[in-house]
Amino acid sequence: MSQSVWSREVRLPGFEKLHGTVRTDVLIIGGGLCGVLCAYFLKLAGVDYLLVEADTIGSGVTKNTTAKITSQHRLIYDRLLRTKGREAAAAYLWANEKAIAEYRRLAAQIDCDFEDRDSFVYTLSDDAKIEAEVTAVNALGIPAEFIEHVPLPLDARGAIRFPHQAQFHPLKFLAGIAAGLNIREHTFIRGLAPHRAWSDDAEISADKIIVTTHFPFLNKHGSYFLKLYQERSYVIALEHAADIGGMYVDEAAEGMSFRNYGELLLVGGGGHRTGKRGGGYEELREFAAACYPNAAERYHWAAQDCMSLDGIPYIGHYCARTPELFVASGFQKWGMTGSMAAARLLCDQVLGIQNEWSGVFSPSRSMITPQLLVNGWEATKNLLTPTTKRCPHLGCALKWNAAEHTWDCPCHGSRFEEDGTLIDNPATGDANIK
Ligand code: FES
Repeated sequence: MSQSVWSREVRLPGFEKLHGTVRTDVLIIGGGLCGVLCAYFLKLAGVDYLLVEADTIGSGVTKNTTAKITSQHRLIYDRLLRTKGREAAAAYLWANEKAIAEYRRLAAQIDCDFEDRDSFVYTLSDDAKIEAEVTAVNALGIPAEFIEHVPLPLDARGAIRFPHQAQFHPLKFLAGIAAGLNIREHTFIRGLAPHRAWSDDAEISADKIIVTTHFPFLNKHGSYFLKLYQERSYVIALEHAADIGGMYVDEAAEGMSFRNYGELLLVGGGGHRTGKRGGGYEELREFAAACYPNAAERYHWAAQDCMSLDGIPYIGHYCARTPELFVASGFQKWGMTGSMAAARLLCDQVLGIQNEWSGVFSPSRSMITPQLLVNGWEATKNLLTPTTKRCPHLGCALKWNAAEHTWDCPCHGSRFEEDGTLIDNPATGDANIK
C-alpha cells in the first residue's frame, strides 16, 4: 500500500468538527503546513483566528513531501535574474532563506528530526548551466559553489552546492506547532463569499479569509484554473542503499531527487503532469535495481504539486479585486520553504504590515508565459474529449491512472478514487463514474 514514511510514524493531534454559526477575525481554510503555520503566527500575534480543514491536518500534500528545507529550487536564480531582475531574484532568495532560519528556530523546540544538510543541484548534460547558476547565486549573496563530483550512481557533470540548508520530518514538526491551535477538522467548506464561508454544518463570518487549500478552489476570482496545473511525482524509500550526506536533485524537470532519512534513502522522480503518463514507480524501481542492487524498498508514495506559470508561488491577495481574501499556492516542488515564506507574508498582509517580498509573489503579477498556452491547450483538448467520465471541477475528461487505480484530471489535477470519491482538489465534490 502506498504510504509515506512520515505517515507511518506520527500521531497528529485531533480536533473537533465545526458546527453552528461562528465569527472570527481571520478564517484560514486548509490545514496543510502552510495553513497551520498561518494559524501559529496569527496566534503569536494575538489575532483572533480559526482554521478549518476538510479532512485532518497534514492529510494532503504535507504527508507526501520529501521535506527538504532549501532555498535551492533547481536552477532558478540565473533565470530570475535574467527575466525578473535583481530585486525580484533577491526577494525570492531571501524570503526562502528567512524561511529556513524560521524552521531552524522553531525546530529547536520541536522533536522533528531536523538536520542541517547542504543542498545540491546536479546536471547530467550541461555544466555551463551550473556555472551560470553559481555566478547568479553568488551575486545575490549566497556562497554557493561548483562541485565536480556527487556521491550518486549517475554520470553527473557537476553540481551547485548551497550550504546550511536542512531536512526534517514534516509531520512531527506539524504536530509540534498544531498543538493548542484553534483548529476544526472534518469541516469541508462548500462555499465562499465576501467575509463568509460555509460547510454542511457551519456558517463562518470573518473579516479576512486565507485560502491554503493546495489548489485554490474558488473559480470566480484569480483565474487559478489557467494559472496552475498539477504534477505527480513518486518516491521510494530504500534500506541498505547509501548515505549520501546531503540533498540532491537533477536540474532537469524529469530527473530524480535524493535525500536520506535515518537509514533510508528516499529516491524521487518519475514525474508527469497529473492525468498524463510518466515514469512513475517503475522508473524509480528500475534505477534502484540497477544502481542499489542490495537495497530493499520499505515505502513508496506519490506527491501532488501545484505548478505556477513562472515557477514562483502565488502568495497574497486572491486577486486585485478581493482585498480581504488571501491565497497561497503554486509552491512547485518546494512546499516547505514556500509554506513558511507564505505564512510570514500572509500574516503581515492580514495585519497590514509592509512586507518587502510581497511584490515577487503577488498573484496579480503578469502571467504571459508559454506555460499559459500549454494550460489553455490542455483545458480545451480535454473539455472537448468525448467520454462520460467527467471532472466535476470544470468538466474535463478524466483519465484512468492504472498505476494508482485512480481517475485523474489533466486540466487542473483533481483526482478521484475508482468509485469517484474525491482525493485531490480543485474539485470540491465526487465524480460520477458510470
Ligand atoms: Fe479542473 Fe478537472 S481539475 S476540470
